[in-house]
Amino acid sequence: MSRKIFTNIGGILTLKAAAAKSGRRVDEKDLSWTKNNTIVVDDRGVILWLGKWERLPKEFHDGKKIDWDKREVIPAFIECHTHSVFAGDRSQEFEMRNTGVSYQEIAAKGGGILSTVKATRNASEQDLLDSAQRRINRFVAQGVSTVEVKSGYGLKKASEEKMLRVASQLKKARILKTYLGAHAIPPEYKAKQGKKLYMDQILHRDLPDLVSKKLCDRVDIFVDNGYFDLEDASHLIERARHFGLQICVHGDQLTRTGACKFAAKNNAQSIEHAIELTAADRKIIANSDTTSVLLPTADIYIHAPYPKARELIDEGARVALATDFNPGTSPTQDLSFVGMLARLKMKMSLAETICAYTFNAAHALGMQSKLGSIEVGKQADLCVLDMSWKDLFYSVGHHDVYRTLRGGKMIYSKPASLVEK
Ligand code: NIG
Ligand code: FE
Repeated sequence: MSRKIFTNIGGILTLKAAAAKSGRRVDEKDLSWTKNNTIVVDDRGVILWLGKWERLPKEFHDGKKIDWDKREVIPAFIECHTHSVFAGDRSQEFEMRNTGVSYQEIAAKGGGILSTVKATRNASEQDLLDSAQRRINRFVAQGVSTVEVKSGYGLKKASEEKMLRVASQLKKARILKTYLGAHAIPPEYKAKQGKKLYMDQILHRDLPDLVSKKLCDRVDIFVDNGYFDLEDASHLIERARHFGLQICVHGDQLTRTGACKFAAKNNAQSIEHAIELTAADRKIIANSDTTSVLLPTADIYIHAPYPKARELIDEGARVALATDFNPGTSPTQDLSFVGMLARLKMKMSLAETICAYTFNAAHALGMQSKLGSIEVGKQADLCVLDMSWKDLFYSVGHHDVYRTLRGGKMIYSKPASLVEK
């Protein structure tokens, strides 16, 4: 059995206590900082032991030693909401929005999601794969080991399948594939009756086929004015359950539809955006097991209000953060930008921000039993920092990562020319 011994670590932020509290109401001590300096990992990438080098049990002495020269280690980050497979860009829409045209007005003129749909349908699978892999590499270089990737720019079976096939071929990061056929009403189905027809196809033709091809790990739906409604969400939840799939919902982003409350009541895995909530909605969400995924870079880009993270957290909700990376509402992959906005504009503490990007993001993907904290029995998905964890989510543009590990294997190594010391 080939074991690895990561040693001479400067300290580990395990998040053990945060995990024990299921990611709710965490404070700095729940990040569980420890001066332990050694982690033993088996050949399946599972953490066997962590502690002080002097206490390393004899049975582990034969492992391969890797010295991290006093660097600090935290759980690898998890990007739990991205639209990383797409073609084209929407820089012109950014310019339009800055002159006062809204996201909804651009969408009504056939821009927005539908403009990316056009470009993505026309792109070859290889081109989509090449660009998506470069994007995944950018995440991995920021300490990310796991990325959720949504479809939703195909909006017809062959193109949705193409996107999900691309997602399933991505390397380095662990990928979770979410089928978002219900992202917008395809141009071919614009009339009201058309939406019903499209929904029927999703429920009874496309979803079963994608499940049988193992191309979808869970499903998502965008509930908002001009997109899908609660009735559609309810049908999708029912079908998802039939296939044993989890569901997440883009909801209450542009207008209040009650989608987040509805999703939480129906045990959705996560709700995304969650901006237009009432106090009563927040209470219901906080009392459910549904994770609220907040996406502040999308809010700043489309001039939307920020979600009330402080109130959600104080009420007891589990809050996660992500980039929502996509060419329209959030053309950024910068985790530090997300975390900085969470702290500066959403009154989240550093501890809450770190937990939101690790344990709570793992929970949003249903992976909390194997990811999100550094504990015996969990995967060794680690971010070795070339800085102190206390300086995370403060600068914008980058944070210094020395190594990213997924299941004990190195998936990113900082170029020697950039390494401190
Ligand atoms: O998360 N809200 C819907 N979906 C995306 C936007 C996608 C796009 O504009 O291309 C979001 O903001
Ligand atoms: Fe999104």
